[in-house]
Amino acid sequence: MIVVLLGAPGSGKGTQGAPLAEHLGLAHVASGDLFRDNIGRGTELGKLAQDYIKRGVLVPDDVTIRMVLDRLTSTDAAGGAILDGFPRTLAQAQALDMALAKQDQRVDAAPLVEVSTEELLRRLAGRWICRAAGHSYHEASNPPREPGRCDIDGSELYQREDDTIEVARKRLEVYFEQTRPVVDYYRQRGVLFEINGEQSIDEVFHDLVDALQATRTAA
Ligand code: AP5
Ligand code: MG
Repeated sequence: MIVVLLGAPGSGKGTQGAPLAEHLGLAHVASGDLFRDNIGRGTELGKLAQDYIKRGVLVPDDVTIRMVLDRLTSTDAAGGAILDGFPRTLAQAQALDMALAKQDQRVDAAPLVEVSTEELLRRLAGRWICRAAGHSYHEASNPPREPGRCDIDGSELYQREDDTIEVARKRLEVYFEQTRPVVDYYRQRGVLFEINGEQSIDEVFHDLVDALQATRTAA
């Protein structure tokens, strides 16, 4: 099963994507995490991506598509994947469809996690993520048990360079201009369904699991 998790920056894609993938036995493939991993390792791709990410604009399609499609060939993604943060442009959505079609696969479900702009900005400004795997916390609504430490892997928590209010606003602008057409693309294909992202983290998780299990049963 291939799932495209859609939603604005701060809507909870990372928070939901990791446990959801584990629950459904799928790989969690998050383009932002792949870029940050490359930045951390100082690769050429990381150096290129950093310049775009710190400004809150999209990394060019060609490098992004290559990176994600390459990740999808890993053995842990053989049984399917939850894509988080990709595709973000129509060109990326079309490239994904073409690559999947070659293996007789398709995007089976595209849940859209909807959250108001005001709440998105509140979440981004208070977010802390872990060094080891990018697990997300919020200083008010989802704090770690021990301040500054990840509950899951014990690594240090830090604030992303692109989580300043100015860059967060830019990322939201880019989302409405360039990524909203992707939402319509999946709606036209009949795989889109909306999830209320302004519930508790557990409630959003349950809604996603229910909808995805129904999709899996119907397939
Ligand atoms: P990326 O890392 O994908 O960032 P993003 O889309 O901006 O999304 P975020 O990670 O900010 O939000 P999220 O939805 O994962 O929210 P989270 O779960 O953390 O991309 C970063 C950059 O990389 C882009 O700007 C671009 O430059 C580049 N890039 C990446 N993919 C690309 C692509 N395909 N093409 C081109 N460029 C690309 O939650 C947010 C906060 O809210 C946390 O603090 C969390 O604890 C809290 N929270 C979550 N759910 C709830 C809830 N239900 N109630 C209360 N608080 C909650
Ligand atoms: Mg994320």
